[in-house]
Amino acid sequence: MRITVIGTGYLGAVHAACLAELGFEVLGVDSDPAKVAALQIGQPPFFEPGLADLLTRVLATGRLQFTTSLTEAADFGDVHFICVGTPQLPGSNAADLTQVTGAIAALTPLLTRPCLVIGKSTVPVGTASNIAELLTAAPAGAGVELAWNPEFLREGFAIEDTLSPDRLVFGIRSAQAELTLRSIYADAIQAGAPVVVTDFPTAELVKVAANAFLATKISFINAMAEVCEATGADVTELADALGHDPRIGRRFLNAGLGFGGGCLPKDIRAFMARADELGVPEAVEFLREVDSINLRRRDRTVAAARELAGGTLVDVKVACLGASFKPDSDDVRDSPALHVAQALHAEGALVRVTDPKSITNATDRYPHLSYVASPEAALAGADLTLLLTEWREYREIDPAAARPLVAKAIMLDGRNALDPQAWRSAGWVYRGIGRR
Ligand code: UDX
Repeated sequence: MRITVIGTGYLGAVHAACLAELGFEVLGVDSDPAKVAALQIGQPPFFEPGLADLLTRVLATGRLQFTTSLTEAADFGDVHFICVGTPQLPGSNAADLTQVTGAIAALTPLLTRPCLVIGKSTVPVGTASNIAELLTAAPAGAGVELAWNPEFLREGFAIEDTLSPDRLVFGIRSAQAELTLRSIYADAIQAGAPVVVTDFPTAELVKVAANAFLATKISFINAMAEVCEATGADVTELADALGHDPRIGRRFLNAGLGFGGGCLPKDIRAFMARADELGVPEAVEFLREVDSINLRRRDRTVAAARELAGGTLVDVKVACLGASFKPDSDDVRDSPALHVAQALHAEGALVRVTDPKSITNATDRYPHLSYVASPEAALAGADLTLLLTEWREYREIDPAAARPLVAKAIMLDGRNALDPQAWRSAGWVYRGIGRR
């Protein structure tokens, strides 16, 4: 089976490399020639642990190639995965489907032989049946079929999540489509990955519902953090105790700066926009509250920084540890860390930001902030330090060794990732989020 992967972003590049690793002949397609040229020589256009090595390995086998040509892709593939982005539309909550509809519109007239088109992009429910309709115009006619197979990979664990998914969801309209999907994922299925076979709308909904649930879980614990702050309770101990209930579970109950990135924030907003169109806005009205708890967390962190600085941030030297939306990623899309750094800067603070991987991306987005390469350089002479992304190297900073670097030993831990006792014993004023 020869497979194309259309769109080589965070999802597609990893998917293409993993399919080649599994032994398939794969052609990755992207409209950006620079991205294609970099991928062809094994350079991922973003940081993802293990991806550069995996690309180098599979490129050497000859099973993986990249192109900008959809004509080449249409000739090559028995299966075409659609992995293009669906970002938030500027000025609206809805998803921008231009890349999906653009890819389908360009591909359809080129499909002269039977094939299966498999949607992976996160789309509003109802999109798949529209795409199936568009595909009927392909020269190969009924030989072209659509399936919907959402992806649940997390950045930072993308290869592991792709090769060993915790479930596979197949939205299909024919037994043949199911067979094709089962043969693509034969290794994962053999290793025990559960398969849910369903219709298009359910398959599309699984993805948005999963992200809505995860976002709700994070905002729930962040709401509890606000109550903890008002009562002297400790949200980390609360989360530990709640998490022992297997019906609740401890994962995604880490209070802090909240969720960001290219998925959760825009997916819950797109879900609200779609529910509106479907005439069921009240069904997901709670997501508005989830979103506002999440954004409030950023404002409250800035307020805590102002308070720790003595009431004003003007000319206060602030060290910001972390810029990416989460550790092990260079992704700064809707990053809570950069949002806070920018807000501190706007209030007159002298902000110095550091991050192990995302300084280039952060500089593109917030060019006026000042960036340094190491935590030591960020800490030097700081009046206030904020931990904004819990990279391992920041969690492992020795508070005693860091103490002489700063002007004032004040740590605001925006990710509740440090040991308060250890930092206080080393002479720091420590403040977490909803923590004693
Ligand atoms: C998410 C989903 O997890 C994944 O299944 C989907 O395919 C894409 O969206 P990702 O965006 O990579 O993945 O990040 P995730 O690990 O879910 O974290 C999202 C955000 O939530 C990060 O900013 C993270 O810092 C934050 N988070 C996560 C918390 O604030 N608290 C937690 O307990 C967990």
